[in-house]
Amino acid sequence: MAKRNIVKVGDPVLRKVSRPVEKFDDRLHTLLDDMVETMRAANGCGLAAPQVGILRRIAVVECVEGEVFELINPKIIAFSGTQEEQEGCLSIPGEAGITRRPKYVTVRAQDRNGNTVEYTGSDLLARAFCHELDHLDGKLFTDCAIRMLND
Ligand code: NI
Repeated sequence: MAKRNIVKVGDPVLRKVSRPVEKFDDRLHTLLDDMVETMRAANGCGLAAPQVGILRRIAVVECVEGEVFELINPKIIAFSGTQEEQEGCLSIPGEAGITRRPKYVTVRAQDRNGNTVEYTGSDLLARAFCHELDHLDGKLFTDCAIRMLND
């Protein structure tokens, strides 16, 4: 595994729409392993492929240590409730804001072998799913923050 560089805000790659993954091969597995390592090294709870410069629909989430979600070609298929909580992003260091997100989110995705999986998360995990999926469409939390917090 290898740690990759995290792209920072201002880089146009963060504003592009990522393409679906079609090949579930060793190259994808290496990327997923690297993304988890990179996320952990940065003390983040989620990372999307565009943040390491790769415009593919891939994200990893780990809100609770050891509970890693690998999301390939993910889609939100259900959501309910609302929450307003603090959010940040590894690509926007030093910034935080309050966002309004669903309290419960169900994601349908593929795992690293191409099998269909579904995960439901609440609270922080629901926020992380929304935040990482937004990255795959070139969206950042600062776009939807209802207010930013100053350091
Ligand atoms: Ni982010």
